[in-house]
Amino acid sequence: MHAIKARNVVKVYDDPSGRVKALDGVSFEVDKGEIFGLLGPNGAGKSTLINMITGLISSTSGNIKIFGKDVATDWYSVKEMTGTCFGFARFIYFMTGRENLRFFGYLYDMSDHEIDKRIDELAQTLRLSEIDSRAGTYSSGMTQKLSLMKGLLHNPKLLLVDELTVGLDVDAAMNVRNVFRQVQRDEGTTVLLTTHYMQEANDLCNRIALISKGKLYALDTPKKLKRLARDYDVIEITLKQAKKAEAIVRRQKGVLDVFVGKDRLVAKVSSSEKSLQPVIGGLLKKGFMFTNLKVRKPMLEEVFLSLTGQSLGGEWHEF
Ligand SMILES: Nc1ncnc2c1ncn2[C@@H]1O[C@H](COP(=O)(O)OP(=O)(O)O)[C@@H](O)[C@H]1O
Ligand SMILES: [Mg+2]
Repeated sequence: MHAIKARNVVKVYDDPSGRVKALDGVSFEVDKGEIFGLLGPNGAGKSTLINMITGLISSTSGNIKIFGKDVATDWYSVKEMTGTCFGFARFIYFMTGRENLRFFGYLYDMSDHEIDKRIDELAQTLRLSEIDSRAGTYSSGMTQKLSLMKGLLHNPKLLLVDELTVGLDVDAAMNVRNVFRQVQRDEGTTVLLTTHYMQEANDLCNRIALISKGKLYALDTPKKLKRLARDYDVIEITLKQAKKAEAIVRRQKGVLDVFVGKDRLVAKVSSSEKSLQPVIGGLLKKGFMFTNLKVRKPMLEEVFLSLTGQSLGGEWHEF
């Protein structure tokens, strides 16, 4: 049995400004015990999908099952089995972190003893020593950790996570990612998370679904997804006036496409052996100076771009 089985899921929002097809026939399965990532840029439909899996909103058509239970007709069982945490969760500010979590624990019929034991355990894992301070005094990183604790409180079989690491500093984000790995390993928890960070999906997820404009374009392990684009090379050049250099690079032998970022130019070429010389020669001849040069295989970001025609929204220089 799959942890999640989504069949032909369609969602159309009826907005005063018009109809938005947020999901356009999405089907996929998430295996028990895996960390599964929905990767896509803003507006792809990730939150819509995750809200539907939690039963928060209904689908226009299609069907979602969680461990065999239909979300639309057996919502109570689904609620018991799933925990949710969202990057922008809010808590009652005049209550402590612990008091906020107790409130959620009662909703899951947990006893005071069970709740406190679990809170102490999770606070230690997540290094949230301020658990008995008022939630209103928490930084956004601490609030996000509290949100994760809320999601894990009742030992759910499935944890649903929407953009939890957005805005976290590097340390806190790493800590949170380690918790996903830990619950996967120690508690057998299945994790479905959404992200628009390529690196996060690549490092953390067993499998990734690439989603853009309501459609699922590919689904596989990060390694296999990257192989989809192995038939070309990438030349990455750091230089001033990248925009001006674009036209020159585009003309050179074997250049398939050129992307320009801030002080950075990325050329997709059929083979670096064939194109490196002409690309560099062409730029030097026109007096361009560069500070860095890298030849590499395509990364997930480029796979995403070539499959969906859309960028994840990050700047090239992040990677
Ligand atoms: N409540 C809503 N009403 C109308 N349109 C919506 C609503 N929620 C989301 N959308 C639209 O649906 C599309 C997908 O949004 P969303 O699921 O939030 O994407 P993501 O989480 O990947 O950024 C976007 O075009 C968004 O504007
Ligand atoms: Mg979203």
